Amino acid sequence: MTDTTAHLGLGEKKVDLPVKKGTIGPDVIDIGALYKNTGAFTYDPGFTSTASCESKITFIDGDEGVLLHRGYPIEQLAEHGDFLETCYLLLYGELPTAAQKKDFDYRVTHHTMVHEQMSRFFTGFRRDAHPMAVMVGTVGALSAFYHDSTDITDPHQRMVASLRMIAKMPTIAAMAYKYHIGQPFVYPQNNLDYASNFLRMCFAVPCEEYKVNPVLARAMDRIFILHADHEQNASTSTVRLAGSSGANPFACIAAGIACLWGPAHGGANEAALNMLQEIGTVDRIPEYIARAKDKNDPFRLMGFGHRVYKNYDPRAKIMQKTTHEVLGELGHKDDPLLQVAMELEKIALTDDYFIEKKLYPNIDFYSGITLKAMGFPTTMFTVLFALARTVGWIAQWAEMIEDPQQRIGRPRQLYTGEAKRDYVPVSKR
Ligand code: CMC
Repeated sequence: MTDTTAHLGLGEKKVDLPVKKGTIGPDVIDIGALYKNTGAFTYDPGFTSTASCESKITFIDGDEGVLLHRGYPIEQLAEHGDFLETCYLLLYGELPTAAQKKDFDYRVTHHTMVHEQMSRFFTGFRRDAHPMAVMVGTVGALSAFYHDSTDITDPHQRMVASLRMIAKMPTIAAMAYKYHIGQPFVYPQNNLDYASNFLRMCFAVPCEEYKVNPVLARAMDRIFILHADHEQNASTSTVRLAGSSGANPFACIAAGIACLWGPAHGGANEAALNMLQEIGTVDRIPEYIARAKDKNDPFRLMGFGHRVYKNYDPRAKIMQKTTHEVLGELGHKDDPLLQVAMELEKIALTDDYFIEKKLYPNIDFYSGITLKAMGFPTTMFTVLFALARTVGWIAQWAEMIEDPQQRIGRPRQLYTGEAKRDYVPVSKR
Protein backbone atom coordinates (compact mmCIF):
# COMPACT_ATOMS: atom_id res chain seq x y z
CA MET A 1 0.00 0.00 0.00
CA THR A 2 1.50 3.38 -0.99
CA ASP A 3 0.59 6.15 1.44
CA THR A 4 3.01 9.00 1.09
CA THR A 5 5.97 9.99 -0.98
CA ALA A 6 9.58 10.79 -0.06
CA HIS A 7 11.42 13.41 -2.11
CA LEU A 8 15.09 13.15 -2.92
CA GLY A 9 17.24 15.69 -4.67
CA LEU A 10 20.51 14.66 -6.26
CA GLY A 11 22.16 17.61 -8.00
CA GLU A 12 19.67 18.76 -10.64
CA LYS A 13 17.66 15.59 -10.42
CA LYS A 14 14.60 15.33 -8.25
CA VAL A 15 12.89 12.06 -7.63
CA ASP A 16 9.70 11.09 -5.82
CA LEU A 17 9.96 7.81 -3.98
CA PRO A 18 6.85 5.96 -2.83
CA VAL A 19 6.61 5.25 0.90
CA LYS A 20 5.04 1.94 1.86
CA LYS A 21 3.36 1.23 5.17
CA GLY A 22 3.43 -2.13 6.90
CA THR A 23 0.81 -3.36 9.36
CA ILE A 24 3.10 -2.31 12.20
CA GLY A 25 6.72 -1.16 12.27
CA PRO A 26 8.61 1.52 10.37
CA ASP A 27 7.55 2.71 6.91
CA VAL A 28 9.86 1.87 4.03
CA ILE A 29 10.94 4.09 1.18
CA ASP A 30 10.70 2.18 -2.09
CA ILE A 31 13.94 3.00 -3.90
CA GLY A 32 13.41 0.49 -6.72
CA ALA A 33 13.33 3.23 -9.37
CA LEU A 34 16.19 5.28 -7.87
CA TYR A 35 18.94 4.05 -10.18
CA LYS A 36 16.78 4.40 -13.27
CA ASN A 37 15.89 7.99 -12.36
CA THR A 38 19.14 9.28 -10.84
CA GLY A 39 21.92 6.86 -11.85
CA ALA A 40 22.83 6.46 -8.16
CA PHE A 41 22.72 3.47 -5.83
CA THR A 42 22.06 3.53 -2.09
CA TYR A 43 24.82 2.47 0.32
CA ASP A 44 24.03 0.61 3.52
CA PRO A 45 26.66 -1.92 4.62
CA GLY A 46 25.23 -4.38 7.12
CA PHE A 47 21.70 -3.44 5.95
CA THR A 48 21.04 -1.31 9.03
CA SER A 49 18.36 0.76 7.22
CA THR A 50 17.38 -1.55 4.41
CA ALA A 51 14.31 -3.78 4.19
CA SER A 52 15.31 -6.56 1.82
CA CYS A 53 11.82 -7.98 1.33
CA GLU A 54 8.15 -7.80 2.26
CA SER A 55 7.13 -10.49 4.76
CA LYS A 56 4.07 -11.60 6.75
CA ILE A 57 5.84 -14.08 9.02
CA THR A 58 7.66 -12.46 11.94
CA PHE A 59 7.69 -8.98 13.47
CA ILE A 60 10.24 -7.59 15.91
CA ASP A 61 10.06 -4.28 17.75
CA GLY A 62 13.60 -4.07 19.07
CA ASP A 63 13.00 -0.94 21.15
CA GLU A 64 10.07 -2.46 22.99
CA GLY A 65 11.46 -6.01 23.13
CA VAL A 66 8.56 -7.51 21.15
CA LEU A 67 8.67 -10.64 18.98
CA LEU A 68 5.55 -11.79 17.13
CA HIS A 69 5.10 -14.80 14.86
CA ARG A 70 2.13 -14.26 12.52
CA GLY A 71 0.96 -11.75 15.14
CA TYR A 72 1.24 -14.04 18.18
CA PRO A 73 3.69 -12.98 20.96
CA ILE A 74 6.56 -15.41 21.48
CA GLU A 75 5.79 -15.52 25.22
CA GLN A 76 2.31 -16.97 24.53
CA LEU A 77 3.54 -19.48 21.97
CA ALA A 78 6.30 -20.69 24.32
CA GLU A 79 3.99 -20.85 27.32
CA HIS A 80 0.95 -22.54 25.77
CA GLY A 81 2.00 -24.30 22.58
CA ASP A 82 4.55 -26.79 21.36
CA PHE A 83 7.23 -26.51 18.70
CA LEU A 84 5.29 -28.28 15.93
CA GLU A 85 2.38 -25.92 16.49
CA THR A 86 4.77 -22.98 16.01
CA CYS A 87 6.11 -24.71 12.88
CA TYR A 88 2.58 -24.99 11.50
CA LEU A 89 1.92 -21.35 12.32
CA LEU A 90 5.10 -20.14 10.62
CA LEU A 91 4.51 -22.26 7.54
CA TYR A 92 0.76 -21.79 7.03
CA GLY A 93 0.04 -18.46 8.71
CA GLU A 94 -2.58 -19.65 11.24
CA LEU A 95 -2.59 -21.77 14.37
CA PRO A 96 -3.80 -25.28 13.49
CA THR A 97 -7.14 -26.72 14.54
CA ALA A 98 -6.91 -29.92 16.60
CA ALA A 99 -7.39 -32.04 13.44
CA GLN A 100 -4.82 -30.02 11.46
CA LYS A 101 -2.33 -30.33 14.33
CA LYS A 102 -2.80 -34.09 14.55
CA ASP A 103 -2.32 -34.46 10.81
CA PHE A 104 0.77 -32.20 10.77
CA ASP A 105 2.37 -34.00 13.72
CA TYR A 106 1.73 -37.32 11.97
CA ARG A 107 3.23 -36.16 8.69
CA VAL A 108 6.35 -34.72 10.34
CA THR A 109 6.79 -37.77 12.57
CA HIS A 110 6.59 -40.11 9.58
CA HIS A 111 9.43 -38.36 7.78
CA THR A 112 11.97 -38.59 10.64
CA MET A 113 14.04 -41.46 9.29
CA VAL A 114 16.85 -40.63 6.87
CA HIS A 115 17.94 -42.67 3.88
CA GLU A 116 20.05 -45.52 5.24
CA GLN A 117 22.86 -44.62 2.85
CA MET A 118 23.26 -41.37 4.80
CA SER A 119 24.76 -43.21 7.74
CA ARG A 120 27.61 -44.22 5.43
CA PHE A 121 27.89 -40.66 4.20
CA PHE A 122 28.61 -39.61 7.82
CA THR A 123 31.56 -41.95 8.07
CA GLY A 124 33.40 -39.87 5.48
CA PHE A 125 33.86 -37.15 8.11
CA ARG A 126 36.64 -37.09 10.69
CA ARG A 127 35.30 -37.93 14.15
CA ASP A 128 36.80 -34.76 15.58
CA ALA A 129 35.08 -32.53 13.02
CA HIS A 130 32.93 -29.75 14.45
CA PRO A 131 29.29 -30.96 14.27
CA MET A 132 28.35 -27.75 12.43
CA ALA A 133 30.81 -28.69 9.66
CA VAL A 134 29.07 -32.06 9.49
CA MET A 135 25.65 -30.36 9.43
CA VAL A 136 26.60 -28.09 6.51
CA GLY A 137 27.77 -31.13 4.55
CA THR A 138 24.98 -33.56 5.40
CA VAL A 139 22.09 -31.13 4.98
CA GLY A 140 23.55 -30.00 1.66
CA ALA A 141 23.75 -33.70 0.72
CA LEU A 142 20.00 -34.16 1.28
CA SER A 143 19.47 -32.87 -2.26
CA ALA A 144 21.52 -35.84 -3.47
CA PHE A 145 19.33 -38.25 -1.48
CA TYR A 146 15.89 -36.75 -2.15
CA HIS A 147 15.83 -35.79 -5.84
CA ASP A 148 12.07 -36.18 -5.88
CA SER A 149 11.57 -32.97 -3.85
CA THR A 150 14.00 -30.56 -5.48
CA ASP A 151 11.74 -29.11 -8.20
CA ILE A 152 10.91 -25.74 -6.69
CA THR A 153 8.25 -24.97 -9.31
CA ASP A 154 6.08 -27.83 -8.00
CA PRO A 155 4.15 -26.81 -4.83
CA HIS A 156 3.79 -30.47 -3.78
CA GLN A 157 7.55 -31.05 -3.99
CA ARG A 158 8.17 -27.82 -2.06
CA MET A 159 5.84 -29.04 0.68
CA VAL A 160 7.47 -32.48 0.83
CA ALA A 161 10.96 -30.93 0.99
CA SER A 162 9.80 -28.64 3.82
CA LEU A 163 8.33 -31.49 5.87
CA ARG A 164 11.39 -33.62 5.22
CA MET A 165 13.75 -30.98 6.53
CA ILE A 166 11.72 -30.20 9.67
CA ALA A 167 11.39 -33.94 10.35
CA LYS A 168 14.92 -35.05 9.52
CA MET A 169 16.89 -32.21 11.08
CA PRO A 170 16.70 -33.72 14.62
CA THR A 171 17.77 -37.11 13.23
CA ILE A 172 20.71 -35.58 11.38
CA ALA A 173 21.70 -33.38 14.34
CA ALA A 174 21.63 -36.40 16.68
CA MET A 175 23.65 -38.41 14.16
CA ALA A 176 26.25 -35.63 14.00
CA TYR A 177 26.49 -35.79 17.80
CA LYS A 178 26.63 -39.59 18.01
CA TYR A 179 29.26 -39.74 15.30
CA HIS A 180 31.34 -37.11 17.11
CA ILE A 181 31.36 -39.09 20.38
CA GLY A 182 31.78 -42.49 18.74
CA GLN A 183 28.42 -43.99 19.71
CA PRO A 184 26.02 -45.87 17.41
CA PHE A 185 23.26 -43.91 15.70
CA VAL A 186 19.85 -44.22 17.37
CA TYR A 187 16.84 -44.48 15.04
CA PRO A 188 13.85 -42.18 15.64
CA GLN A 189 10.91 -43.60 17.55
CA ASN A 190 7.56 -42.45 16.19
CA ASN A 191 5.54 -42.73 19.40
CA LEU A 192 7.56 -39.90 20.94
CA ASP A 193 6.97 -36.19 20.48
CA TYR A 194 9.47 -34.12 18.50
CA ALA A 195 11.64 -32.95 21.42
CA SER A 196 11.53 -36.27 23.32
CA ASN A 197 12.48 -38.14 20.18
CA PHE A 198 15.45 -35.82 19.68
CA LEU A 199 16.67 -36.24 23.28
CA ARG A 200 16.39 -40.00 22.93
CA MET A 201 18.33 -40.03 19.63
CA CYS A 202 21.07 -38.00 21.34
CA PHE A 203 21.32 -39.69 24.70
CA ALA A 204 20.03 -43.27 24.40
CA VAL A 205 22.47 -46.15 23.88
CA PRO A 206 21.47 -49.60 22.62
CA CYS A 207 22.65 -51.33 25.81
CA GLU A 208 20.39 -49.43 28.20
CA GLU A 209 16.77 -48.41 28.45
CA TYR A 210 16.29 -44.65 28.03
CA LYS A 211 13.46 -42.83 29.70
CA VAL A 212 12.77 -39.27 28.55
CA ASN A 213 12.63 -36.76 31.40
CA PRO A 214 9.44 -34.70 30.67
CA VAL A 215 10.89 -31.53 32.26
CA LEU A 216 13.90 -31.70 29.96
CA ALA A 217 11.72 -32.55 26.94
CA ARG A 218 9.53 -29.52 27.65
CA ALA A 219 12.63 -27.34 28.04
CA MET A 220 14.05 -28.67 24.76
CA ASP A 221 10.75 -28.00 23.00
CA ARG A 222 10.67 -24.46 24.39
CA ILE A 223 14.24 -23.83 23.25
CA PHE A 224 13.17 -24.91 19.76
CA ILE A 225 10.18 -22.53 19.86
CA LEU A 226 12.39 -19.62 20.97
CA HIS A 227 14.76 -20.18 18.04
CA ALA A 228 12.16 -20.96 15.35
CA ASP A 229 12.32 -17.69 13.42
CA HIS A 230 13.69 -14.18 13.76
CA GLU A 231 12.77 -12.35 10.55
CA GLN A 232 15.55 -11.17 8.20
CA ASN A 233 18.65 -12.06 10.26
CA ALA A 234 21.94 -12.99 8.54
CA SER A 235 21.22 -16.71 8.05
CA THR A 236 17.63 -16.14 6.90
CA SER A 237 18.79 -13.50 4.44
CA THR A 238 21.40 -16.00 3.26
CA VAL A 239 18.68 -18.61 2.67
CA ARG A 240 16.56 -16.09 0.77
CA LEU A 241 19.49 -14.93 -1.35
CA ALA A 242 20.55 -18.51 -2.13
CA GLY A 243 16.94 -19.41 -2.93
CA SER A 244 16.44 -16.37 -5.15
CA SER A 245 18.60 -18.01 -7.81
CA GLY A 246 16.27 -21.01 -7.91
CA ALA A 247 18.61 -23.29 -5.92
CA ASN A 248 16.91 -26.31 -4.34
CA PRO A 249 15.67 -25.94 -0.73
CA PHE A 250 18.14 -28.41 0.80
CA ALA A 251 21.06 -26.45 -0.66
CA CYS A 252 19.52 -23.17 0.58
CA ILE A 253 19.14 -24.46 4.14
CA ALA A 254 22.74 -25.72 4.07
CA ALA A 255 23.77 -22.15 3.14
CA GLY A 256 21.76 -20.86 6.11
CA ILE A 257 23.51 -23.31 8.44
CA ALA A 258 26.91 -22.13 7.19
CA CYS A 259 25.99 -18.52 7.95
CA LEU A 260 24.52 -19.36 11.34
CA TRP A 261 27.80 -20.94 12.43
CA GLY A 262 29.56 -17.58 12.92
CA PRO A 263 30.17 -16.36 16.50
CA ALA A 264 28.31 -13.08 15.91
CA HIS A 265 25.16 -15.08 15.04
CA GLY A 266 24.32 -18.67 16.09
CA GLY A 267 27.78 -19.41 17.42
CA ALA A 268 27.22 -16.89 20.22
CA ASN A 269 25.71 -19.38 22.69
CA GLU A 270 28.85 -21.50 22.47
CA ALA A 271 30.96 -18.37 22.86
CA ALA A 272 28.82 -17.16 25.81
CA LEU A 273 29.26 -20.41 27.71
CA ASN A 274 32.99 -20.47 27.00
CA MET A 275 33.17 -16.91 28.35
CA LEU A 276 31.27 -17.81 31.54
CA GLN A 277 33.63 -20.74 32.06
CA GLU A 278 36.62 -18.48 31.48
CA ILE A 279 35.33 -15.95 34.03
CA GLY A 280 34.80 -18.87 36.40
CA THR A 281 34.03 -17.01 39.63
CA VAL A 282 31.93 -13.99 40.55
CA ASP A 283 34.96 -12.03 41.85
CA ARG A 284 36.49 -11.95 38.33
CA ILE A 285 33.45 -10.31 36.71
CA PRO A 286 34.66 -6.68 37.12
CA GLU A 287 37.83 -7.54 35.17
CA TYR A 288 35.74 -8.81 32.23
CA ILE A 289 33.33 -5.88 32.38
CA ALA A 290 36.34 -3.55 32.19
CA ARG A 291 37.70 -5.47 29.21
CA ALA A 292 34.32 -5.29 27.40
CA LYS A 293 34.35 -1.50 27.86
CA ASP A 294 37.96 -1.05 26.76
CA LYS A 295 38.07 0.26 23.16
CA ASN A 296 41.55 -1.22 22.68
CA ASP A 297 40.45 -4.71 23.69
CA PRO A 298 38.50 -6.69 21.07
CA PHE A 299 36.76 -8.66 23.86
CA ARG A 300 32.94 -8.40 23.95
CA LEU A 301 30.54 -9.77 26.52
CA MET A 302 29.14 -12.68 24.57
CA GLY A 303 25.38 -13.06 24.95
CA PHE A 304 24.97 -9.27 25.24
CA GLY A 305 23.79 -6.85 22.59
CA HIS A 306 21.72 -7.34 19.51
CA ARG A 307 21.41 -5.58 16.17
CA VAL A 308 17.64 -5.24 16.57
CA TYR A 309 16.85 -5.50 20.30
CA LYS A 310 17.73 -2.31 22.14
CA ASN A 311 15.77 -3.64 25.10
CA TYR A 312 15.61 -7.01 26.87
CA ASP A 313 15.39 -9.80 24.25
CA PRO A 314 11.93 -11.29 25.05
CA ARG A 315 13.34 -14.75 24.33
CA ALA A 316 16.06 -14.23 26.97
CA LYS A 317 13.43 -13.80 29.70
CA ILE A 318 11.74 -17.11 28.82
CA MET A 319 15.14 -18.75 28.46
CA GLN A 320 16.15 -17.56 31.93
CA LYS A 321 13.02 -19.20 33.40
CA THR A 322 13.72 -22.42 31.48
CA THR A 323 17.31 -22.42 32.77
CA HIS A 324 16.08 -22.32 36.37
CA GLU A 325 13.57 -25.13 35.68
CA VAL A 326 16.21 -27.38 34.11
CA LEU A 327 18.87 -26.73 36.74
CA GLY A 328 16.25 -27.25 39.49
CA GLU A 329 15.16 -30.55 37.96
CA LEU A 330 18.75 -31.77 37.64
CA GLY A 331 19.75 -30.57 41.11
CA HIS A 332 22.29 -28.06 39.69
CA LYS A 333 20.77 -24.97 41.31
CA ASP A 334 24.15 -24.00 42.77
CA ASP A 335 25.97 -24.38 39.46
CA PRO A 336 28.82 -21.82 39.65
CA LEU A 337 28.21 -20.90 35.99
CA LEU A 338 24.65 -19.89 36.82
CA GLN A 339 25.92 -17.78 39.72
CA VAL A 340 28.42 -16.06 37.42
CA ALA A 341 25.71 -15.53 34.76
CA MET A 342 23.21 -14.01 37.19
CA GLU A 343 25.78 -11.72 38.74
CA LEU A 344 27.18 -10.68 35.36
CA GLU A 345 23.69 -9.88 34.13
CA LYS A 346 22.99 -7.81 37.26
CA ILE A 347 26.22 -5.82 36.98
CA ALA A 348 25.91 -5.24 33.22
CA LEU A 349 22.31 -4.06 33.53
CA THR A 350 23.35 -1.36 36.00
CA ASP A 351 26.57 -0.31 34.27
CA ASP A 352 26.51 3.04 32.40
CA TYR A 353 28.36 1.66 29.35
CA PHE A 354 25.82 -1.09 28.79
CA ILE A 355 22.84 1.15 29.61
CA GLU A 356 23.99 3.87 27.25
CA LYS A 357 24.64 1.43 24.37
CA LYS A 358 21.43 -0.47 25.17
CA LEU A 359 23.25 -3.78 25.52
CA TYR A 360 20.89 -6.28 27.12
CA PRO A 361 21.27 -10.04 27.51
CA ASN A 362 20.16 -11.88 24.37
CA ILE A 363 18.82 -15.42 24.08
CA ASP A 364 22.30 -16.92 23.89
CA PHE A 365 23.24 -15.68 27.32
CA TYR A 366 21.20 -18.34 29.15
CA SER A 367 20.71 -21.04 26.53
CA GLY A 368 24.30 -22.32 26.83
CA ILE A 369 24.03 -23.00 30.57
CA THR A 370 20.76 -24.87 30.03
CA LEU A 371 22.04 -26.99 27.17
CA LYS A 372 25.21 -27.83 29.07
CA ALA A 373 23.16 -28.97 32.08
CA MET A 374 21.04 -31.13 29.75
CA GLY A 375 24.21 -32.92 28.66
CA PHE A 376 25.05 -31.27 25.33
CA PRO A 377 28.68 -30.35 24.63
CA THR A 378 29.26 -26.74 23.57
CA THR A 379 29.98 -27.81 19.99
CA MET A 380 26.35 -28.95 19.69
CA PHE A 381 24.79 -25.63 20.76
CA THR A 382 24.72 -24.05 17.32
CA VAL A 383 23.53 -27.33 15.84
CA LEU A 384 20.44 -27.13 18.06
CA PHE A 385 19.91 -23.55 16.92
CA ALA A 386 20.11 -24.71 13.28
CA LEU A 387 17.65 -27.52 13.96
CA ALA A 388 15.09 -25.12 15.40
CA ARG A 389 15.67 -22.32 12.87
CA THR A 390 15.12 -24.68 9.94
CA VAL A 391 11.37 -24.04 10.02
CA GLY A 392 11.90 -20.27 9.96
CA TRP A 393 14.30 -20.56 7.04
CA ILE A 394 11.83 -22.76 5.18
CA ALA A 395 8.84 -20.48 5.86
CA GLN A 396 10.82 -17.45 4.64
CA TRP A 397 12.14 -19.32 1.60
CA ALA A 398 8.62 -20.53 0.70
CA GLU A 399 7.20 -17.03 1.11
CA MET A 400 9.83 -15.73 -1.30
CA ILE A 401 9.30 -18.49 -3.88
CA GLU A 402 5.51 -17.95 -3.80
CA ASP A 403 5.87 -14.19 -4.26
CA PRO A 404 5.04 -13.35 -7.91
CA GLN A 405 7.39 -10.32 -7.71
CA GLN A 406 10.33 -12.54 -6.77
CA ARG A 407 13.59 -11.88 -8.67
CA ILE A 408 17.14 -12.99 -8.14
CA GLY A 409 18.78 -11.02 -5.30
CA ARG A 410 21.58 -8.94 -6.72
CA PRO A 411 22.99 -6.12 -4.53
CA ARG A 412 25.08 -3.36 -6.11
CA GLN A 413 28.33 -1.90 -4.80
CA LEU A 414 30.38 1.22 -4.34
CA TYR A 415 33.49 0.38 -6.37
CA THR A 416 36.71 1.83 -4.89
CA GLY A 417 39.28 -0.27 -6.78
CA GLU A 418 41.51 0.72 -9.69
CA ALA A 419 39.92 2.41 -12.70
CA LYS A 420 40.53 0.81 -16.12
CA ARG A 421 44.23 0.23 -16.90
CA ASP A 422 46.18 -1.76 -19.48
CA TYR A 423 47.70 -5.18 -18.98
CA VAL A 424 51.49 -5.15 -18.50
CA PRO A 425 53.43 -8.24 -19.66
CA VAL A 426 55.20 -10.04 -16.82
CA SER A 427 58.66 -9.18 -18.27
CA LYS A 428 57.84 -5.46 -17.89
CA ARG A 429 56.44 -5.50 -14.32
N1 CMC B 1 30.10 -6.23 24.67
C1 CMC B 1 30.67 -5.01 24.69
N2 CMC B 1 30.40 -4.02 23.84
C2 CMC B 1 29.50 -4.28 22.88
C3 CMC B 1 28.85 -5.53 22.76
C4 CMC B 1 29.18 -6.52 23.71
N3 CMC B 1 28.61 -7.73 23.64
N4 CMC B 1 28.01 -5.52 21.72
C5 CMC B 1 28.11 -4.29 21.18
N5 CMC B 1 29.01 -3.55 21.86
C6 CMC B 1 29.34 -2.14 21.63
C7 CMC B 1 30.28 -2.01 20.41
O1 CMC B 1 31.63 -2.02 20.81
C8 CMC B 1 29.85 -0.68 19.86
O2 CMC B 1 30.45 0.34 20.61
P1 CMC B 1 30.91 1.73 19.90
O3 CMC B 1 29.64 2.35 19.39
O4 CMC B 1 31.55 2.49 21.00
O5 CMC B 1 31.84 1.34 18.79
C9 CMC B 1 28.34 -0.61 20.12
O6 CMC B 1 28.14 -1.47 21.26
C10 CMC B 1 27.49 -1.11 18.96
O7 CMC B 1 27.97 -2.38 18.55
P2 CMC B 1 27.90 -2.90 17.05
O8 CMC B 1 28.88 -4.01 16.88
O9 CMC B 1 27.97 -1.75 16.11
O10 CMC B 1 26.42 -3.48 17.01
P3 CMC B 1 25.85 -4.50 15.97
O11 CMC B 1 24.41 -4.25 15.90
O12 CMC B 1 26.61 -4.43 14.69
O13 CMC B 1 26.19 -5.92 16.61
C11 CMC B 1 26.06 -7.92 17.86
C12 CMC B 1 25.28 -6.72 17.29
C13 CMC B 1 25.04 -8.96 18.35
C14 CMC B 1 26.88 -8.59 16.75
C15 CMC B 1 26.97 -7.43 19.00
O14 CMC B 1 26.20 -6.86 20.03
C16 CMC B 1 27.85 -8.54 19.57
O15 CMC B 1 28.93 -8.82 19.02
N6 CMC B 1 27.39 -9.21 20.67
C17 CMC B 1 28.08 -10.35 21.21
C18 CMC B 1 27.76 -11.57 20.37
C19 CMC B 1 26.37 -12.09 20.63
O16 CMC B 1 25.95 -12.24 21.78
N7 CMC B 1 25.67 -12.42 19.52
C20 CMC B 1 24.35 -13.03 19.61
C21 CMC B 1 23.30 -12.22 18.96
S1 CMC B 1 21.66 -12.89 19.36
C22 CMC B 1 21.52 -14.35 18.48
C23 CMC B 1 21.37 -14.18 17.03
O17 CMC B 1 20.50 -13.44 16.57
O18 CMC B 1 22.09 -14.88 16.30
